[in-house]
Amino acid sequence: MESVKYARMPDIPVANRKWPDASIQCAPRWCAVDLRDGNQALPNPMTPEQKLEYFNLLVDIGFKEIEVGFPSASADDYNFCRNLIKGNLIPDDVTISVLTQAREHLINKTLEVLEGASNAVIHFYIATSELHSKFVFGLSDDEIIDSSVASTRRIRDGINSMGGSNIGLEFSPEEFTDSSLDFTIKLCNAVVSEWNPRGDEKVILNLPQTVERRLPNQYADMIEEFINRQKYSDKTVVSVHNHNDMGCAVAATMQTLLAGATRVEGTLFGHGERTGNVDLTTVGLNLEYLGIDTGLDFSKLNKIAKTVEDITEIAIQPRHPYAGELVFTAFSGSHQDAIHKGLSKKDELIRHFGGWKVPYLHVDPGTVGRVYEQFIRINSQSGKGGVAHVMETEYRIKMPRWVQIDFAKHVQKYADKTSKELSSHEVFSIFKEIYMNCEDPVSLINYWPRPADDDPKVIKGELHVNYQGDKRILKSEGNGPISAFVHALREIKDLPEFILEDYAEETMGVSAEAEAVCFVRVQIKNSNTEHIGVGLGNNIDQAAVASVLAGLNALINQSK
Ligand code: KIV
Ligand code: ZN
Repeated sequence: MESVKYARMPDIPVANRKWPDASIQCAPRWCAVDLRDGNQALPNPMTPEQKLEYFNLLVDIGFKEIEVGFPSASADDYNFCRNLIKGNLIPDDVTISVLTQAREHLINKTLEVLEGASNAVIHFYIATSELHSKFVFGLSDDEIIDSSVASTRRIRDGINSMGGSNIGLEFSPEEFTDSSLDFTIKLCNAVVSEWNPRGDEKVILNLPQTVERRLPNQYADMIEEFINRQKYSDKTVVSVHNHNDMGCAVAATMQTLLAGATRVEGTLFGHGERTGNVDLTTVGLNLEYLGIDTGLDFSKLNKIAKTVEDITEIAIQPRHPYAGELVFTAFSGSHQDAIHKGLSKKDELIRHFGGWKVPYLHVDPGTVGRVYEQFIRINSQSGKGGVAHVMETEYRIKMPRWVQIDFAKHVQKYADKTSKELSSHEVFSIFKEIYMNCEDPVSLINYWPRPADDDPKVIKGELHVNYQGDKRILKSEGNGPISAFVHALREIKDLPEFILEDYAEETMGVSAEAEAVCFVRVQIKNSNTEHIGVGLGNNIDQAAVASVLAGLNALINQSK
């Protein structure tokens, strides 16, 4: 291999790789480290009030393990942790953890902060990579083991002297994925052996990818190997903690679950050092998508996102999985068309596929608290499906295909001109302007259709309109109210002679102001000049009359 700029990560010899054939069967234990790893990396760290708000948010989502800070390194973290304990603010089913380095005076301070806590974990870490131990700290492997064992003992002694508290141990060989597997196994065995878990107590072995330098499959290999080769698998819980330097943290985490990890540390939306920690929102919702009960409730994701954005002062990227503003939005015409069809056949698709499946929508947006109306947004890339969806969902106007095609062209022209996204309100204004002109130059004053005395099949109509400032009274007849109306209009001699080409009617549903909508295509006789008219009304006849008048007005204005 040619020389390369970056040091290569050593290969991991794997004897019997199993995880690629595995599937995830259940949710891991979740530990939210937003208040420690996440907070440490904020340009403006959280205030104590914000930390408490965030803590409560994590509890509401359903996290049962929450790392609340690094009390020996920060007075704010110390006080926050004390306030949680003294103020009885930790629900009984929630375990807090606090981080410390493997150094005696820091451990002592950390023990002090947990005085009075009912359920807690002391999480201590030591760097195990050669990069760190040799070049940053100048420690040998034996010295790292000695220091870790001594720290474990100090924590055990400290807890014993506290009495009454249920305080467990978490140990992280920092930079696990950049360390020798043989060494981290030896080190973790030594720590667990020193802790000597009692009864069903388990030590959490958190094996972090502190800087993401390995691909997800290699992290999974290391986790599988670790689990197979460590001495105390029945006395330990293997936890993963993935940073996102290569942008693979979610994939890596999911693959380590295949490899046997049963606990995951991360943060909401991936806050944390550099490119952040793994995003627990995405991992959780991915598992939910696979049908796994995660114990986490992201049904109000918008609200969660807003709170996190406010507290961290970092905006969520609009294309962030599940939470981004644009992730359930389609601008492109073909996508809009497919979504529109998929959503209108939702139940049929569920029956066919045995579960929710709609083109171009990964999950049902409703499950994360998003509403359908926002999904299709209109700009110059949009097509008839999108425009139809907006008109249907927002205005209950279900256009026939020939109207959709015509209207999409008008919308596109308008969007091209403005070069920006159109609101649904603007889309409807264009619709009204183009198809619903019942005023100019002919405006309806009144229309009375009634069956003829001598033949009820014949409808006689008396029509009052304003035309060019004059009131006209027109009388005619036809085989229905609409044809009588058309014939009456033709009595205005200087209007173009027009015919009805297409006609469609629809009811609009209970909550709409109007109850019926009619669409007509009118054409000037013996010419190609045609226009669509649309009318709304309390009944089909009213809507039809309005649509004919609108079509005629458009024709007159077009041929001026
Ligand atoms: O990324 C990391 O290695 C850590 C450890 C302290 C667990 O945050
Ligand atoms: Zn970390």
